[in-house]
Amino acid sequence: MSERTLVLIKPDAVRRGLTGEVLGRLERKGLRIDAAELRTMDAALADAHYAEHVAKPFYPPLKEFMTSGPLLALVVSGDEAIAVVRALSGATDARQAAPGTIRGDFGLSNRENLIHASDSTASAEREIALWFPKL
Ligand code: CMP
Repeated sequence: MSERTLVLIKPDAVRRGLTGEVLGRLERKGLRIDAAELRTMDAALADAHYAEHVAKPFYPPLKEFMTSGPLLALVVSGDEAIAVVRALSGATDARQAAPGTIRGDFGLSNRENLIHASDSTASAEREIALWFPKL
């Protein structure tokens, strides 16, 4: 079944010139890019996007990192897009992510892990509404 998911190509990937690499992997897989915007997350959007994490100890440095520079926000669609993008992304901790995945190939951190992808249909719709309210 076709689904939509929110993807953030994070500030570390933009700084390192890996935006095209990450976007290319999504496109070559056969996923569709429905929306794309280069944008810097502000504090309010960070708190809303990461609502389930705001009270966690890792949140302050995560917020600092995610608001540190531009990221590329995308709406991506395709058959089972939520699970497919998470599989392409690899494990959250890039040190443990499998080679062949985006995080496994390019990351060495739990925080600077290049990509965010919605983890369920409910979070995809919530996150798309936050980032792209007109879609
Ligand atoms: P993301 O998919 O953006 O969603 C939540 C983020 O929190 C996650 O990617 C990680 O980058 C970050 N994260 C999760 N757990 C930890 C942790 N234990 N320490 C640091 N960052 C974390």
